[in-house]
Amino acid sequence: MIHPETIDKIMDATRIEEVVGEFVNLKKRGVNLIGLCPFHNEKTPSFTVSPPKGIYKCFGCGKGGNAVNFLMDQEHFSYPEALKYLAAKYNIEVEEEKPTPEQQQALDEKESLFNLNAFAQKYFQEQLHQNEEGKAIGLSYLKERGFSLEVIQKFGLGYCLNKWDEFSRHAQKNGYKKEYLVKTSLSKSKDQQLYDTFRGRIMFPIHNLSGRVLGFGGRIMTSEKNKPKYINSAESEIYHKSKALYGLFFAKSAVASSDNCYLVEGYTDVISLFQAGIENVIATSGTALSTDQIRLIRRYTSNVTLLFDGDAAGLKAAFRGIDLILEEGLNVRVVIFPEGEDPDSFAQSKRPLEVKEFIESNARDFISLKTDLLLEETSNDPIKKAGLIKEIAQTISLIPDPIARTLYVQKCSDTMQVDEKLLFAEINKMRRKNFQQKRKQTHAETDEHAWVNAEEGIAEKQTPLPLEENFQEIEIIRILLKYGSEELTLEVENEDKRMEEIIVRVMDFIVDDLEEDKITFENEACREIFTYFLTARQNQSLPDEQVFFQHESENIRKLAIDLLTTPYSLSDNWEERHRIYVKKENENLRENVYRVLYAFKLKKLEKMIGENQEKIKKADNDEELMPLLENERNLKNTRSRFAKELDRVVTK
Ligand code: UTP
Ligand code: MN
Repeated sequence: MIHPETIDKIMDATRIEEVVGEFVNLKKRGVNLIGLCPFHNEKTPSFTVSPPKGIYKCFGCGKGGNAVNFLMDQEHFSYPEALKYLAAKYNIEVEEEKPTPEQQQALDEKESLFNLNAFAQKYFQEQLHQNEEGKAIGLSYLKERGFSLEVIQKFGLGYCLNKWDEFSRHAQKNGYKKEYLVKTSLSKSKDQQLYDTFRGRIMFPIHNLSGRVLGFGGRIMTSEKNKPKYINSAESEIYHKSKALYGLFFAKSAVASSDNCYLVEGYTDVISLFQAGIENVIATSGTALSTDQIRLIRRYTSNVTLLFDGDAAGLKAAFRGIDLILEEGLNVRVVIFPEGEDPDSFAQSKRPLEVKEFIESNARDFISLKTDLLLEETSNDPIKKAGLIKEIAQTISLIPDPIARTLYVQKCSDTMQVDEKLLFAEINKMRRKNFQQKRKQTHAETDEHAWVNAEEGIAEKQTPLPLEENFQEIEIIRILLKYGSEELTLEVENEDKRMEEIIVRVMDFIVDDLEEDKITFENEACREIFTYFLTARQNQSLPDEQVFFQHESENIRKLAIDLLTTPYSLSDNWEERHRIYVKKENENLRENVYRVLYAFKLKKLEKMIGENQEKIKKADNDEELMPLLENERNLKNTRSRFAKELDRVVTK
């Protein structure tokens, strides 16, 4: 349990842009910030953060909420976990009670796995720095390779003693279950006995974006030929290899600020480059980049530079994988290190400035490099050259941005000495083919829309707010939320039948008017929000919008956020439909309040008239019929009065 006062403290300290900024590369746009939505796949940003309101909202997928909701969605935190994360971020003390065994059990499995990994990481790190074997074998090895204590600490490196079950026993003694030791693959089970998976290895913890340990890579210290150099944690409930990137937790802010990401193969490459002051570096752990990983990178930058060991074979093997990166709309550059060097050995043998300079001056655009490499091989053989053109066309065809495609066509047609038109024709043919394939594959995939739209050069479509049935009452709520505290000058008839100007708050005016006519809301969220205004009206106060943003009901939260963040107002659509020209809403607040209010009331009346008419149809004697007809006349009178009043206000 976190004390409500502490929760308030946390919420007060929290700045939404700082929280979201840890995961999404945000750019300023007016008072808001925008970026690529982490919750759905998109290429043009529709994810908006409002610092003054403390909320985020994606106009693409509709997700929205406050900092806590963001963390719950993004990191799959529970509510208290999200609060604790924020408390830690803003140095707010939370009275933490040690969980009882029952509570421990109740923690969900994922949490248990994370906890165990955190425990293991700490333990291995202690062994590396304090245990005799750890120091003599692990730490001395790392130092010999040139790693500073600083980076060793920063990346949380550790050492697993070369003893059969030292760690497994220690963990169990501390209450960690066998089941989880096996699931995290920290231990292996043989004849009901546990033994340590990573015996005698240097431990590289692999972190998720918020710094929690997903798993480990363990490097062997001996040169036994029959044992793998690295052992890695197996896939688990918390560790999905194709979704993790080694080093991204440490690199993400540097990736965002430099707008580029260096991609290497190994753990040691990351650490050495980091030590040389190149902090925007991550590793794939020796595998080809998956689409999920590419999308993870794309949250922070659209530029990737691949760093290859000094042999062209490695690069050629990577061609297909690189196509995948281009397809996701990233720009790819490649650096090839001198023969026999990998980024780690190179960085260790040069001064930091030299490393930087080398990488910067040797980075080459991938498509141009590929064209050059393949062109060398064709040696004027026309058949080989035709194959080359197809190959390059295929790669260019994957680039979503038409301008970038055109630039590549110009460049490559020049290098290969083929007609631009020919290359374009080939590319378009392939794009059609790719497109049809994609269409066949899946209709529902959101990505397809992005692709089609990119093809047509238009922005991704935004999902409009629901305009259906309860549109008029949603409009009332929107006006209340947005303009409730503003003042209107109205002309009213006083007791002497003379016109008099009065000043009234928008919310008071609306609340009183609806109360007088006893009009109720159909939509539940609208109805609930309205009750807050009703109470506030009675107390002469104003509901704080945070009450809605933090509301426990998802519907209320969502409605309030939708209404307060949407770039186009519902009434714009309404006006369009009714072909009435209006000035901007807030310039013309009085008219708009009337319009929205009367539209709502008219809608209500229509409904009542309709219901009454149903009853008239069913009535089978005069006694029943007479009051219904009377009712209809009254309703219709009211309707025409409303319509007239509306007309008077609007056309004045
Ligand atoms: P490397 O063999 O290049 O290792 O494999 P490295 O990172 O440079 O390590 P050092 O410098 O020899 O100590 C690159 C990556 O491939 C994965 C690891 O993630 C490694 O960092 N790998 C390699 C394995 O998973 N298992 C292996 O047996 C070897
Ligand atoms: Mn290496």
